[in-house]
Amino acid sequence: MTLDDLPTPALLVDRPRLDRNLDRMQATAEANNVALRPHIKTHKSVALARRQRARGAEGLTVATVAEAETFVEAGVSDVRVAYPVTGRDKHARLRHLRDDATLSFTVDTLAGAEQAAAAYPARAPVDVLLEVDVGHGRCGVHWSDDAQAVRVARAIAGAKELHLAGILTHAGQAYNGPADTQTEAEALAQSARHERDRMLSVAAALADAEGTGVTPDAFEISIGSTPTMAAFENAEHEGFRVTEIRPGNYVVNDAMQVALGAASLDACALTVCTTVVSVQEKPDGPARAFVDAGKKVFTTDTGYGTDGYGTVLAPTHSRQAHPELRLAHLSEEHGWLDGVHPDHLSVGDRLQIVPNHACVTFNNQNQIHVIDDDAVVDTWSIDARGG
Ligand SMILES: Cc1ncc(COP(=O)(O)O)c(C=O)c1O
Repeated sequence: MTLDDLPTPALLVDRPRLDRNLDRMQATAEANNVALRPHIKTHKSVALARRQRARGAEGLTVATVAEAETFVEAGVSDVRVAYPVTGRDKHARLRHLRDDATLSFTVDTLAGAEQAAAAYPARAPVDVLLEVDVGHGRCGVHWSDDAQAVRVARAIAGAKELHLAGILTHAGQAYNGPADTQTEAEALAQSARHERDRMLSVAAALADAEGTGVTPDAFEISIGSTPTMAAFENAEHEGFRVTEIRPGNYVVNDAMQVALGAASLDACALTVCTTVVSVQEKPDGPARAFVDAGKKVFTTDTGYGTDGYGTVLAPTHSRQAHPELRLAHLSEEHGWLDGVHPDHLSVGDRLQIVPNHACVTFNNQNQIHVIDDDAVVDTWSIDARGG
């Protein structure tokens, strides 16, 4: 089967580019002596996760209990839920999975620790990581608030049903892009430094406090986002080192990573293959073309430095932005293209578009078509879609 045989819109993953991305991140992990525990919320695909594990990824990270269920059922034996799991139902589902896999999750509040302690048996304590906020502003105890970190750590360590296995963060602030006075590279380096150093300082503060049981031996320090991994270098502080990285998006990258300077357009392995369904020259506006993928495929995500809702590629085998076309607007099933010269574009033409945000784009489709040049070499299902 070739690309031209695929009905559109279709999600394409370029296999050589995917494999290069997987190899590169595995090499980053090995160079820094950390485990790579990729976050599969990006692709939710068992086949893709197998490719990550075949290269040396140790365990997987998930965001939801439903993802944990899908991947444990597929035979993955070590799953970390990088999310503050709450509620009796969700804990019961995780408890059930422990028959087949090692499970862990995050806690960042006293209430979260209490709920978790009520859900697991003291004879088999569950691994819990204290979530730390290193500047993103989302969940997690603030990196500068040692007292709160110690309070929640003690609550975890003091519960016989829980085992304080480490601390975990995601430096989501790296997605904000540079401050006015910074280059993209400087901003990535700063976020990466903050992610590492703030975690090492929290670990040291926990070790200094009584009642946490924290020592540098066997204490996990888990960090990771795709942008910060572009500038990550491990370091030691009071016997602690980063032990694990959890990037997700790196498998395919996207237009946001390109804008942030974390990836090149050539490293973007995911595209949406679309067909031009209409070209219009109307008296009251510029010439426009419409493709058969709108916000139900791309979503309306935008981010630092993105232009429109994705990067339209020139019709070449190398990854180059189309010199004219811009995905300027989305309705549900239509992508609106600006920069159209009606002589250059015809109904039926196919265009590949790199989405702004790969993770939500995967979640909108049932399947990924794996391509190598123009050949469709495989089709993978997006197994944990919607959950
Ligand atoms: C907790 C957590 N860990 C890891 C990641 C992976 O980050 P990225 O997709 O930037 O690689 C995310 C992304 O949202 C996250 O929320």
